Amino acid sequence: MQENLVNDIVELYKEKKWKDIVEKYHDHPDRNKLLWVFPSEENLSFLRKHLQRLRCDKVLSIGCGSGLLEWIITEATGIPVSGVEIDGAWWHCKYAPPTFIPLLFTANKLERDIITLLQESHNTALLFCYFNNREAFKEYLKYFSGKVVVIIGPANGKGVHTDPRPFGGISEEWILYHSQEVRDSKDFIAIYSRNCL
Ligand SMILES: C[S@@+](CC[C@H](N)C(=O)[O-])C[C@H]1O[C@@H](n2cnc3c(N)ncnc32)[C@H](O)[C@@H]1O
Repeated sequence: MQENLVNDIVELYKEKKWKDIVEKYHDHPDRNKLLWVFPSEENLSFLRKHLQRLRCDKVLSIGCGSGLLEWIITEATGIPVSGVEIDGAWWHCKYAPPTFIPLLFTANKLERDIITLLQESHNTALLFCYFNNREAFKEYLKYFSGKVVVIIGPANGKGVHTDPRPFGGISEEWILYHSQEVRDSKDFIAIYSRNCL
């Protein structure tokens, strides 16, 4: 069943049918194999509208996993999304999921090219979807020069732990600009902007 899900999504990806992917698989029991949150078309319009308002012309997704969400956002919004993952044997093993965008790899300690990318990310939104590593999150933010951070994850009450959470607060430097629930899943997309005052 799990293999079918992966194969079916890969086929739809090849045909660029992202709408079919989000509609058919958002509540599939094995969906986490490829992606934790399947946004609706409404969610993707919400993202496009607010990223454009905040003048973001790129997104850099940290801990992007297979990159399926990143590919869907790129296709649906026209805003290019690249993704960073932890380098490791996992991505080269036969059980690893397929990848839908080219991944940028880093070691646990951020590498120089990723630090430079973060420092030069002025019109970029930094995205974390179901990220679960507070220390690494702080490290990415330390170098990030952009003004927008998007956190997608479970609200309190969903019974799933991530860190950061969408409404857990980042630091006083970041203000919640807007948020939207992903369907009625108790997962939320929270957009933060840098407090420039
Ligand atoms: C729960 S998964 C979420 C994957 C994907 N964003 C999704 O929503 O399906 C968390 C991901 O973060 C990655 N990760 C953990 N620490 C990281 C770090 N320091 N830098 C980049 N990625 C990291 C893990 O390898 C894993 O793929």
